[in-house]
Amino acid sequence: MNKKKILFVCLGNICRSPAAEGVFKSIIAQKGLDDNFYVDSAGTNGFHNGEEADSRMKRRAAIRGVILNSISRQVTSDDFEIFDYIIVMDDSNIENVKKFNPSGSSHYKIHKFTNFIENKAHNHVPDPYWGDDKDFDLVLDIVENASLGFISYLENNK
Ligand code: 4NP
Repeated sequence: MNKKKILFVCLGNICRSPAAEGVFKSIIAQKGLDDNFYVDSAGTNGFHNGEEADSRMKRRAAIRGVILNSISRQVTSDDFEIFDYIIVMDDSNIENVKKFNPSGSSHYKIHKFTNFIENKAHNHVPDPYWGDDKDFDLVLDIVENASLGFISYLENNK
């Protein structure tokens, strides 16, 4: 079976998309589905290339048993060839990530993560960078709900 290839994208790839990658991986591992997926994350701005996830994001995730071990990298045009789904955190990420696929041929792969939340309680994952613990916890709550909804969507659209 072909693995579904999923790239989570935010601005800096140190807070939201590493959290999304870590939470999504932890849920698929719990469900015994890890072999069905290849999962990565990247940022549109590249300012934090080579850095580990933000220490506050790592700490709040670890409290829930989720280890974030991604190293920040910038999105590339090849990502639009490699990945089946480019999952972004907010509307500005959509505009920024489109620039890496100027022909527009793979823009159909871009989806806002919160669109998969079943009760539509959030319409974006807010940037926690200038916030405190509760903002990082909110990111984790939202990406957990969105991951569950996305996994159901993938199960129903094989
Ligand atoms: P992220 O948060 O996009 O969730 O990784 C940010 C981290 C750093 C910056 C912006 C957002 N920054 O501009 O440095």
